Amino acid sequence: MKTRIISTSLERVKEDAVVAGVFEGWKKLSGAAAEIDRAAGGIISAAGTDITGKLNQTCMLYPSQGLASKRVLVIGLGKEKDLTLDRVRAVAARAVKSAREAGLMSAALPLQLIPGAAFDPARRAAALCEGALLGLYTFRQYKTASDSGDDADFKQITICSGREHSALAAGAVKDAETVCTGVCLARDLVNHPGNTATPGYLAHTARTIAKQCGLSCSVLDESRMKKLGMGGLLAVAQGSHEPARFIVLEYAPPRAAHSAPVVLVGKAITFDSGGISIKPALNMEEMKTDMSGGAAVLGAMQACSRLKLPVRVVGLIPATENLPGGSALKPGDIVTSMAGKTIEIITTDAEGRLILADALHYAKRYKPQAVIDLATLTGACIIALGNDVSAVMGTSEELIGRLRSAAERTGEKIWPLPLFAEYDEQIKSDIADIKNVGGKGAGSITAGCFLKKFTGATPWAHLDIAGTAWAQQPKPYAPKGATGVGVRLLVELLRGWKPLKA
Ligand code: BES
Ligand code: ZN
Ligand code: ZN
Repeated sequence: MKTRIISTSLERVKEDAVVAGVFEGWKKLSGAAAEIDRAAGGIISAAGTDITGKLNQTCMLYPSQGLASKRVLVIGLGKEKDLTLDRVRAVAARAVKSAREAGLMSAALPLQLIPGAAFDPARRAAALCEGALLGLYTFRQYKTASDSGDDADFKQITICSGREHSALAAGAVKDAETVCTGVCLARDLVNHPGNTATPGYLAHTARTIAKQCGLSCSVLDESRMKKLGMGGLLAVAQGSHEPARFIVLEYAPPRAAHSAPVVLVGKAITFDSGGISIKPALNMEEMKTDMSGGAAVLGAMQACSRLKLPVRVVGLIPATENLPGGSALKPGDIVTSMAGKTIEIITTDAEGRLILADALHYAKRYKPQAVIDLATLTGACIIALGNDVSAVMGTSEELIGRLRSAAERTGEKIWPLPLFAEYDEQIKSDIADIKNVGGKGAGSITAGCFLKKFTGATPWAHLDIAGTAWAQQPKPYAPKGATGVGVRLLVELLRGWKPLKA
């Protein structure tokens, strides 16, 4: 797929369709719709009230004059007062997907697709581009050629900027494309089945990204983990024949090469069967997605380096399967984490926190400004917040606040949960320093409290993406399957990064 930006007038753009938007309850056309209507002899106004402008209503028109493009695709924008940047993404996605469904291979998206001056031109251009690219995403690597689906080859998206905004919009589109590449990388990794996306595969992918983007990458094998005392990660890995990997990626821009980094940590259980505390069979296949945190970190590292952000970033990805084998970890076992804390295993299905404990402790060697971890950590998070909202917890209100405002900009919803000291009671162990699950209540929070014990004094935030990493139903600009959640959020956070005050 190619994306390009041009500043020619809408009548001269030549694509399979040019897209125009109308608000619900429109009386007079404006923006791209007005421009196209004028050029094509009133083709949109002739449709009159057939075009309601209701959100996502689409209508294909065939101008006989005045336009270089053969078709005009009119899309409903919903009520003008409800317009948000996220709706711009959704509308762009709906438009290009209906073009694809009609068998077309290219579309022109004018900045004025959304009439008026809401949002600055750069953010608008980026939103159109993101919506289109992420909406058109498909994953067909396991479909043989004879079954490639009917929405195969959309070839080109052209953003039409108009002359006055062309330079600004061009930069924004290029950056948006880079970010989307990172999101799609994460989606691909998560969509791959567990027998492809093993810890070794993630390590290989990390090395490839590092080569392409000028990152440094090292991959610790199990003997290095042993030397380092990564008892949490090794404990989870011991039931599987697939060797565990601890992936370290570093992006160090020349001007900040020696400054304290922001460390991103991503849980990468490439398949979570639950281990000896085995999960029910129903929907267990979805547990190939338990590496979504790691995938998001890989996608974000790729994007940050390609965008040449001025902040040093380290990515840490503890990767292993969680399987029940003859040598698997058992309930009742006690393991010693890299931090030296002993952990009583109550259930082997609470494995994410064990591997994250070691990764969070390992992060301390970088003396980071901030640590952010992403993990499909608890089913309880889905009970609390559902499938559209991730939970955020942590030790720095400022960091959490920044994540929340970044999330508002990217449309990836996050909501805070508290880490009050009272919750710590639940994870006290009679026999070890701490146990790996609490009681029935507040499962996402007690998981957060567990992680907190390994973060030391570094400002830290934890994102539980258990509900948001995988879409059982298509979302406005994500098809069913992996969403790539977290990539855009992390990039947005790091884009404007400034040292934390506290
Ligand atoms: N990977 C799961 C959490 C999960 C559940 C992610 C559903 C995505 C969708 C995690 O390792 C897990 O099994 N957590 C347990 C913890 C419990 C035993 C304390 C859970 O949530 O049931
Ligand atoms: Zn589990
Ligand atoms: Zn898990």
